[in-house]
Amino acid sequence: MGLLDGRVAIVTGAGRGIGRGEALELAREGARVVVNEVDPEVGGAVVAEIVAAGGEAVLDTGDCSEEDTARQLVGTALDTWGRLDALVNNAGILRDKTVAKMSAEEWDAVIRVHLRGHFLPTHYACAHWKESGTQGRIVCTASTSGLLGNFGQANYGAAKAGIAAFSTIVAMEMARYGVRCNAIAPAARTRMTESAYGAFKDLSAAEGSDEGEAFDFWHPDNVAPLVAYLCSDAAGTISGKVFGVQGDAVELYQPFTSAAVIANHDTRWTPDGIAARVHELFDESGISAEVENMMGKLRFTMTERSTL
Ligand SMILES: NC(=O)c1ccc[n+]([C@@H]2O[C@H](COP(=O)([O-])OP(=O)(O)OC[C@H]3O[C@@H](n4cnc5c(N)ncnc54)[C@H](O)[C@@H]3O)[C@@H](O)[C@H]2O)c1
Repeated sequence: MGLLDGRVAIVTGAGRGIGRGEALELAREGARVVVNEVDPEVGGAVVAEIVAAGGEAVLDTGDCSEEDTARQLVGTALDTWGRLDALVNNAGILRDKTVAKMSAEEWDAVIRVHLRGHFLPTHYACAHWKESGTQGRIVCTASTSGLLGNFGQANYGAAKAGIAAFSTIVAMEMARYGVRCNAIAPAARTRMTESAYGAFKDLSAAEGSDEGEAFDFWHPDNVAPLVAYLCSDAAGTISGKVFGVQGDAVELYQPFTSAAVIANHDTRWTPDGIAARVHELFDESGISAEVENMMGKLRFTMTERSTL
């Protein structure tokens, strides 16, 4: 018995890296999978792998940020298997540059694939669940780059912070229809991170398995079990949350919360007045007024990024 026996799921960008691991894990747990992937070769290989293991999968080679593809993804699930239970929004790209060097094309491409590529499949899936009175589960893919801010990723981080907010709002709006929506902020060794970070810090030696073989901490397949769980009824009413996931570690993120306040006795502030008291905000919260590298405070880090 799998956690997802009889269920139908869509995974976008499922031909490589984290999405590939997610599609395979969902299938291992019993789900039939619509594998969306712009590269037909790697997408087809994932479908073949699922089928060879005794599962069911179909390939969709569209760009998930295109409206026709998003509509078709939901249509394919319904036409092929008559139901849709889960949507994993995973597809993503990088176009890293510092903001002063970034072109409008580099900005638009990243915002489009991530934000529009999350919005459109979610829109069609939610419309189906709402109209049919059936329930579903969504997993969105954010990033610590958006939650904390990462050098050289103004476009990607803005998209990923947007995805965390998007996921939270979808969870609120769809709660009344029994649809749950959560986001993950994964970290793994994939084509994407190798292009951004280069060589990886090797943590495997510290993570021994029963066999005496080192646990591959940054393996992309380590992300998938959490995603399969969030796509299943075992996740119960968990919704609107953001989880960090890498190696053998699952984290729960806290949303932005107000850390301190100053008020001006029921009168409008003057700039001078703020200048005189703004230090109270930093004193009370312990937050530094200077620019900070929040990524440096991560519990699990890959490597330092080079200057872009
Ligand atoms: N790898 C990490 O450490 C990491 C960290 C944080 C977030 N993420 C996020 O996880 C997701 C997967 O990343 P990955 O590291 O596996 O990357 P990857 O490049 O290995 O795989 C992404 C896959 O998505 C496909 N794809 C890209 N645009 C598409 C589109 N418009 N429609 C359909 N398919 C498309 C690509 O062809 C590729 O096969 C992304 O959203 C990424 O931003 C990854």
